[in-house]
Order: sequence, then C-alpha cells, then structure tokens
Amino acid sequence: MPDPTGRVYLDHAATTPPDPAVVEAMLPFLTEAWHNPSSIYVEAQAARAAIDRARATVARLIGAHEGEIIFTSGGSESDNLALRGVLAASTRRGRHVITSTVEHHAVLDTVEQLEREGLAEVTRLVPGPDGRVSPEAVEEAVRDDTVLVSLMHANNEVGAITDIAEVSRRLKARNPRAMVHTDAVQSAAHLGVHVDRLGVDLLTLTGHKLYGPRGAGVLYARSGTPLQPQILGGGQEDRRRAGTEDTAAIAGLARAMTLAWERREADVAHERALQQRLIEELPRRIPMLAITGPRDLSHRLPGNVSCCVGFVEGESILLALDLAGVAASSGSACTTGAVEPSHVLVGMGVPEDLARGSLRFTLGRGNTEADVDRLLEVLPPIVQRLRALSPIPVTEPPETWRPWLDG
Ligand SMILES: Cc1ncc(COP(=O)(O)O)c(C=O)c1O
Repeated sequence: MPDPTGRVYLDHAATTPPDPAVVEAMLPFLTEAWHNPSSIYVEAQAARAAIDRARATVARLIGAHEGEIIFTSGGSESDNLALRGVLAASTRRGRHVITSTVEHHAVLDTVEQLEREGLAEVTRLVPGPDGRVSPEAVEEAVRDDTVLVSLMHANNEVGAITDIAEVSRRLKARNPRAMVHTDAVQSAAHLGVHVDRLGVDLLTLTGHKLYGPRGAGVLYARSGTPLQPQILGGGQEDRRRAGTEDTAAIAGLARAMTLAWERREADVAHERALQQRLIEELPRRIPMLAITGPRDLSHRLPGNVSCCVGFVEGESILLALDLAGVAASSGSACTTGAVEPSHVLVGMGVPEDLARGSLRFTLGRGNTEADVDRLLEVLPPIVQRLRALSPIPVTEPPETWRPWLDG
C-alpha cells in the first residue's frame, strides 16, 4: 500500500513499521492486563499467561524449548548477554573468541570491552569482498581454548548471508565444546531461523526489524549453555535477566514473529523482485556507482540494495533524497562530527574514498514498484547535481575502484 503522506520509506533494516495486527495484540496489555506479571492476583495472572504464550510461540517458531527463550529489551542487549554471559561463566574453559570485523557494534564493542577487561582474547576474521565470512576461515582460527564464535547471520549494511550451519559444523568438528552465537536480527524476517538447522547455541532476535515493537528482543540459549546473568535484581526470566517484563512488547514480538513466519514466502518474493530491479538499474543509470555486497542474490538478504557512489558523500545524497521524499540511509557512522566510512565496507576492502559515497536502500512489505520508480527518477539528477558542485574534481575513477565498479 502506498504511504498516504507520499513519502517513500526505504530503510527497513533500520526499523520496520509495526504491523496493525501487532499493535492490536499489544493493546490489551496496555489497557487491561497491564499488571505486574509477577504479582499474585487474577489480572497479573493474565499478564503472566500472555508471556508464557509468547514464549511458547517464539520457541516453536525457532525450533527451541520454552526454557531456552530469554526475553530482553532488544538485539543489543541480547548480543551483550550472549558474549558477556558466556565468557563470564566460562573462565575456566578458556577465553578465546572468534568474531569478524563486520559485526554490528553491539558485538564489536562488547568483545573490545571484554578484551580490555582481560576476559577475552579475540580473533577478528576478515570477510571476503562480498561481506561473507567463510566457514573455512573459522575452522582455521579455532583453538583448543576457543569458547565462543559470534558471527552475524546476515549483515545489516550489505545484506551478506554467512553460512552459519557450515560454520557450526566445522567448528564443532574441531572443538565440540566451543559454542556458536549468531545475531539473526536482520535475517529472521527473511530467512526464517531454526536453531537446530543453524546448529547454534545462542541466537539474537529483535522485534522492531520484523514489524514488531521496539524494546523487545530474545536471546535463545541452548539448554546447558553456561550463561551468567548481566542484569541483576530479580528472578525474572528464570533468574537470567532481571526486570519487570514488558508484557505488551513481548506479546507484540510473538505476534510479529508469527506473521513473519506465515508471510515469509510472499514477503521474500515481493522484496526480491524490487531488489533485483534496483540492483540492475542503479549502475545503469548512474555512472561510477558500485553495488556492494553479494551479487549472487541467494547469498544476499531480500530487499537489501547497498551501493557506493563515486565522487559524492553519501550523507549529502541522503539529505537531498529526504527533500525529494525518500527516506534511506548510508553505511556511515557519524562520529565526532566527522563522517567515518562504514567499518563494514572498509572491512570488506572497499577503498575509503569510494566508501564515503555509501548508500543503503532496504525494501519492505509496504514498498511498491512505484517506490522503485520514484527512487530511479530522483537519484540520478541528485548525484549529477552534487558532482557538479563538488570541490573534488570528478575525473576518471581511480584504479583502486575498478574491481568494485566492474562488480
Ligand atoms: C545486526 C544487528 N544487530 C543488533 C542490532 C541492535 O538491535 P536493537 O536495536 O534491537 O538493540 C541491530 C540494529 O540495528 C542490527 O542490525
């Protein structure tokens, strides 16, 4: 359905609009059964029952047992709990962690802090030029004291899908005691996640990337996984995560996951068609534009279109797109006032000067052919105008850009 405001939203990897059915599922727990689920009276029991139902739903969808589901405040908390919780509980087993340079900062910053605290010794794998981490690289990095491998299922910037099942198979063949954590925040809506098929011990999910609410997440922790709680103060979540539960958010998350699982085939077919068109048309219509991330769409999240535009700052394009009614994002993180090129693109080997022109369009359920037409209509003149204004002379692309521009 087109947006009634006439704006085009192409930033579904940042967050998704809550589905009306999700809002409906949440409302009773804001208006009627808003009571503390740990209390004893009947209203509180209704809230407790809703959390139990949500836990059963989430467990069933991902192939887990109810006791293996820990509700958290979202993806960042689940990533923190997985890494910190396992390492703090495993000091006698070892402290070697394997991760990659292109993880979300919820993982990267946490392992860095654990390293500073002396709790982890970290190997950071470099992905291939398409952003995927190879299972062979994991196998080579495994040691006897490896405690945990943490790799994202799909990358939030370039949509690269890593073969977690194969990572797990190779890891466990070398070191059966080592555990696998995957951040499935971006993949869950599109690929479906099943903990046994992926062979993982820990898995992170969040509600707001699958048309559910913000502030609701899940950490799946396989039964028997050593995990030290990181938020103390109450017995909730089987003593693994203190804090009065947000019943409405948890109910909304379970409803959103159910819908995502039911609609997956239709959503994926729709997003793939729009994605394919943009991936083909953008480099055709804009000179010196490189598509980043896997070209083979079976290795790429449906709906993800990431690219770098030579000789223009991504941020300037985004501001112009916003004025033209299109909401998108770039892979750049604006820190200390200076726009740093994205760690993901740099990690994949994209030259820094090219990475400064990064853009990310992420399509979703509500997008239409007309939205793609609109982007294809407004983006080329924006790039042309910005290049004409650029203080950097627009010349032939440097040799270092060639492999990226040629795909
Ligand atoms: C891959 C990945 N992990 C973790 C997060 C953090 O999730 P949340 O916003 O629920 O804390 C995000 C959100 O951008 C993400 O894309």
